[in-house]
Amino acid sequence: MAFTKKTVRDIDVAGKKVIMRVDFNVPLKDGVITDDTRVRAAIPTIQYLKEQGAGIILMSHLGRPSGEGPEPELTLKPAAEKLAELTGYDVKFVDDTYGEKAAEACAAVKPGDILVLENVRFLKAEKKNDPEVAKKLASYADIFVLDAFGTAHRAQGSVVGPAEYIPAVAGFLLEKEVDTLTGIFADPDRPFVAVVGGSKVSSKIGVLDHLIDSADTLIIGGGMAYTFFLAQGYSVGTSLQEPDWVERAGEMLKKAEAKGCKILLPVDNVVTDHFGEDAVGEVVDSTQIPDDRMGMDIGPKTTELYCEAVKQAATVFWNGPMGVFEIDQFAKGTEAVARAIADSDCTSIIGGGDSVAAINKFGLADKMSWISTGGGASMELVEGKALPGVEALLDA
Ligand code: 3PG
Repeated sequence: MAFTKKTVRDIDVAGKKVIMRVDFNVPLKDGVITDDTRVRAAIPTIQYLKEQGAGIILMSHLGRPSGEGPEPELTLKPAAEKLAELTGYDVKFVDDTYGEKAAEACAAVKPGDILVLENVRFLKAEKKNDPEVAKKLASYADIFVLDAFGTAHRAQGSVVGPAEYIPAVAGFLLEKEVDTLTGIFADPDRPFVAVVGGSKVSSKIGVLDHLIDSADTLIIGGGMAYTFFLAQGYSVGTSLQEPDWVERAGEMLKKAEAKGCKILLPVDNVVTDHFGEDAVGEVVDSTQIPDDRMGMDIGPKTTELYCEAVKQAATVFWNGPMGVFEIDQFAKGTEAVARAIADSDCTSIIGGGDSVAAINKFGLADKMSWISTGGGASMELVEGKALPGVEALLDA
């Protein structure tokens, strides 16, 4: 699907100052970035702007600070250093966002320079989308670029605000994410197989609903499968379940049937008597889950069935693990499905969050066609919602 907003390609940035919202919300351990994917993902746009002769001011949030002032463990300095390390560029950092120091540093930015501002969320007004925040950030530059796909679902000051005051366009990451994640609904190569797992039906109901409208097959795994079992009248023992969502799960099954979307649910499960590393698993059919057992993973028959469905697919969308993949002995279903997707020639689109952690754990990242850098943002797109950050940009 064609991206309907202007991008950095559509605007003359030479000699201009650009303020770009990126998503450098990266995991940190003792001040060291443990996964730099989001910093890497911002590089193509930064590189392009630099080559075009723009002066670049980067801003992002990191974590969820209180908004009462600086919190040293949530400074963006390590992200600025990582960007310098990955690109070889001279990247400056200023430990201020809205004050005099930031304004002076931004005023000094020359064509080709790169400056990173401090965490935008150190001030509460950012999250409240206070116009003063937007005005201030916009005053630093001539053009606003949004490349923070992972945050594009947040209507916050640094995401949507500057677009009110200066021309606002998308970066390459945002464009590619939106194109890819909406493209699967517009015109996917078929068969289109969607694999949805994770613990709760309630948190993915919009995603399931939208996928049923366009997927040929919807594979369901993880904890959410047990609420579907309840809708089918099976007992689920002590497995994760959402009694308030059973009726809705039943409606989903009926809707899928009416739409001609084939739903695959587990036929067998690995169950155990308690949750933990030391738990001992046994395989039971889905109709035979004992009262004192909980499901932890899909069983071997299900794994075979799911892998076979994935092998037949031309397009696969995957979000959510098939079981408790963090515990090795219950990771087999998730790993097998991930490997089947990786080994297939299909277009494979991975929708953020836990599925990305699973793919990284199994070392399969470079075998997927697209791995989204957004968790919440990718889910909102897949639900069919518009992202406020994207909406605020200039129309193409
Ligand atoms: C994310 O990691 O999902 C994004 O960076 C958004 O972060 P937030 O949920 O704290 O707004």
